[in-house]
Amino acid sequence: MTTNNIVWHNTSVTKEERRKKNNYQSYVLWFTGLSGSGKSTLANALARYLFEENIGTYVLDGDNIRHGLNNDLGFDDEDRKENIRRIGEVSKLFVDSGQIVLTAFISPFREDRQQVKDILAENEFFEVYVKCSLDECEVRDPKGLYKKARNNEIKHFTGIDSPYEEPENPAIIVDTESQSVEDSVKYIVDFLVAKGLIN
Ligand code: PPS
Repeated sequence: MTTNNIVWHNTSVTKEERRKKNNYQSYVLWFTGLSGSGKSTLANALARYLFEENIGTYVLDGDNIRHGLNNDLGFDDEDRKENIRRIGEVSKLFVDSGQIVLTAFISPFREDRQQVKDILAENEFFEVYVKCSLDECEVRDPKGLYKKARNNEIKHFTGIDSPYEEPENPAIIVDTESQSVEDSVKYIVDFLVAKGLIN
């Protein structure tokens, strides 16, 4: 750790002022689930819905972030942990900027997701479990990665030779095997309205 001799600066515009001006809260909706479960699809569909309602969001997506900020990380447990740690910190910055952050990362380890929750305030982190069986994800196989993993062409593939720890007490569960994208988005929006997180 190299945090010696570093002093925190308070910003001239506060998170609370930004929220007041926006007229909505800022927080993280943390989508977690297997590869192919529908995390990115749902996060993007929800972002589109909120955009049309003039609500500011930003989607942080595993595949995209691994092209840039996290292009030095692979898929062993340690790298996945660091991936989620960094995304947690980035999410916190976005929350500070007054945005609603929609993250779409497998984030397979409970401890890592909890760590993100712990660096945010109460009501700033909502875990969204994008539930879909491994069998169904494997049938979907949108990028052909399950096939490669089964053929030993990819190592440490989640659900095959790397674990996925289901959320124990998620704020929201959407089951993408039985619900349409539209149903799931509506379900999440209803949750946000009920909690007073959007008007
Ligand atoms: S993690 O576990 O949260 O660090 O993963 P994440 O950053 O979300 O990246 C997952 C996407 O990377 C692709 N990919 C893999 N996924 C899982 N295991 C292995 N070994 C792997 N290799 C590449 C895959 O496209 C994931 O995207 P999604 O959208 O989840 O299908």
